[in-house]
Amino acid sequence: MDTADPGTHKTEVDLDIRVRDLLGRMTLIEKIGQMSQVNGGYAALADDIRCGSIGSIINEVDIDTVNNLQRIAVQESRLGIPLLVGRDVIHGFKTIFPIPLGQAATWNPDLVQASARVAALEASTAGVNWTFAPMIDVTRDPRWGRIAESLGEDPYLCSQLGAAMVKGFQGEQLDQHGSIAACAKHFAGYGAVEAGLDYNTTSIPEIELRNVYLPPFLAAIRAGVATVMASFTDLNGVPATANQFLMQQVLKEEWNFKGFVVSDWDSVAQLTVHGFTANDADAALAAASSGINMEMNSRLYDRHLGAAVASSSLTEAQLDDLVYPILKTKFQLGLFENAYRNPDSFPELLAPSHRELAHEAASQSCVLLKNTGATLPLDPHRLTSLAVIGPLADDGYEQLGTWIFDGEAEHSVTCLRSLEELAAGRFKIHYAQGVSDTRSYNTDGFEKALAAVAKADAAVMFIGEESILSGEAHCRADINLPGVQAQLIDTISALGKPTIAVIMAGRPLTLTNVIDKLDALLYAWHPGTMAGPAIADLLFGIRVPAGKLPISFPRMVGQVPIYYARKNTGKPATEHNITSIEEITGRAPQTSLGMSAFHLDAGFTPLFPFGYGLSYCDFRYSDLSLSSAQLEPEERLAVSATLHNSGDREAEEVVQLYVKDMVGSVTRPVKELKGFQRHLLQPGEYRRIEFTLQSQDLAFSNRHMQWVAEPGDFRVWIGGDSRTELYSDFRLLAAS
Ligand code: NOJ
Repeated sequence: MDTADPGTHKTEVDLDIRVRDLLGRMTLIEKIGQMSQVNGGYAALADDIRCGSIGSIINEVDIDTVNNLQRIAVQESRLGIPLLVGRDVIHGFKTIFPIPLGQAATWNPDLVQASARVAALEASTAGVNWTFAPMIDVTRDPRWGRIAESLGEDPYLCSQLGAAMVKGFQGEQLDQHGSIAACAKHFAGYGAVEAGLDYNTTSIPEIELRNVYLPPFLAAIRAGVATVMASFTDLNGVPATANQFLMQQVLKEEWNFKGFVVSDWDSVAQLTVHGFTANDADAALAAASSGINMEMNSRLYDRHLGAAVASSSLTEAQLDDLVYPILKTKFQLGLFENAYRNPDSFPELLAPSHRELAHEAASQSCVLLKNTGATLPLDPHRLTSLAVIGPLADDGYEQLGTWIFDGEAEHSVTCLRSLEELAAGRFKIHYAQGVSDTRSYNTDGFEKALAAVAKADAAVMFIGEESILSGEAHCRADINLPGVQAQLIDTISALGKPTIAVIMAGRPLTLTNVIDKLDALLYAWHPGTMAGPAIADLLFGIRVPAGKLPISFPRMVGQVPIYYARKNTGKPATEHNITSIEEITGRAPQTSLGMSAFHLDAGFTPLFPFGYGLSYCDFRYSDLSLSSAQLEPEERLAVSATLHNSGDREAEEVVQLYVKDMVGSVTRPVKELKGFQRHLLQPGEYRRIEFTLQSQDLAFSNRHMQWVAEPGDFRVWIGGDSRTELYSDFRLLAAS
């Protein structure tokens, strides 16, 4: 079938003709050159580009240098093939949006898409035409530093938001002004690294890989993602960078992926470090044979693939298949028509509309986790003074979070600044850091902090983790608040003033040791450039929090992995069959302890569940009903419930739909997210909410690795988080 392609070429056939024509004119060196991505600037790369041995550069964002390198590629290389210019534009370029985990807390695909679009427009001004995002590794381990870059624990939420990011970066067409190619990473299973330790090995049964880790990648491919990045990790004994099963069977044969795969940084060379290949030459051959089209940074393809072709270990036809989608992507991006970027043709960096969107995203990303006695919102008319405490209140850099190669602190609006603006002429602000940074063990600043709180009506503490404590290679085994911050909370809360914490962090922290001391807690992740106005708005009720957790918060790190879509086990814990460690009597018999799946010292529930988040209004759910008690395989089932805003202000709620397959040919999760919707309700408003389910929504990989919906009984819930108890049952009928 002659289908349309994502660029301006009228049809796939036109595109194919152009790619094949070019490929037919290329030498072996030029082909291998297209498969090589190299780090560095003009001086290092010009000659190699001129002779066609580099197809892509990474990490050069000086527009003059980039345009100059493109000029060399287009005008001075034999075939004039332009360069792919790659960069990690993860959550913004100059205007920094919340970290991806924070964006996931918005549960707002439109907003996530719009944010990625701004990132693409800004990155385009630097000549970047390819970002290494979205990162769509499902993860259930907050120890892993890269959780900050992820979209959380749930395959469905990751799929929806990952696809939205792809659409934002790539626009309607890859050659649209301001579109850049996206890269779905890291294929696959990186989020399951043992012990939450970066780069560590992963052991994932194929069925779990297919049910949990792969769906976001398929969603990204359906959204048109141009490229995929292989994971650094070893999956069941075979590093992803040489994993035929992942690259050939799943990606190409099953999913028919037509884009290309890039290795991760040096991950081809690392095949030998893994102990999978004996030397660089074998590593290059193993990666290329498995289907890694382009090598990032290490130049083993450049050095060894020529010999591999000469010895027929790799055929020229195999090589052509690897080069083909790289060239195709360059055509689709319109680079052959215009490889250069003119910064003046894009909106200015940090344009007011970009900052406004970052403000909106930061507002929507914050999750209100506790609000005893309606401590929040604060009332500016009734407050005479507010103490602002903590190392993150006025730190324009730390609020940006991990992976901000191009973000700059000088453009940040801090929370202290916004609170001071809001307070001007109304109430006083008493500011004291308390500790110099989040990791400090020095308590010398406590006294000033206490003095500030003593003078104030309430204290807002900006605490958490500096950005360097999360991200790649920044894992933690202890995920409590670092340094003496818990002690600072103890000291301040002992004064008896309303104590509010705003936590900025790159991961869920364990908060059991502080939660009872706080009257209110707003979890802000790392909110980006516009943290200040976003958080000030929420604290003072100018906006109502509506964020929901994209990941469960453990009570203690020993509970990890703890996630809502767990299996039931044969001995599920309930409130009635568990015992706490304090309650055990001496020499109690073995059977006194409940005999169910719980930890003596942590119970069986997280501190805050997936999907959870409070509002300043109380949303109530009732009257769940189904359009039928039976679902025919080709039909649709309407699931509806009434949502009531019983509060006194307009507020948004993220309504969630969960399903359980009651009996499966393999055991199924106790609940799985299958839909969500955002609704803005007026005070007192009742609204009927409706979702539609089809049999394909109920499908999963069975033990024969077939994607099937099994006829039988299902339960469906609607509610405001994953603990919802409002449900009804239906039966999926077999095909007649
Ligand atoms: C290593 C990281 O794993 C990957 O996510 C990133 O895109 C590359 N380095 C390039 O910086």
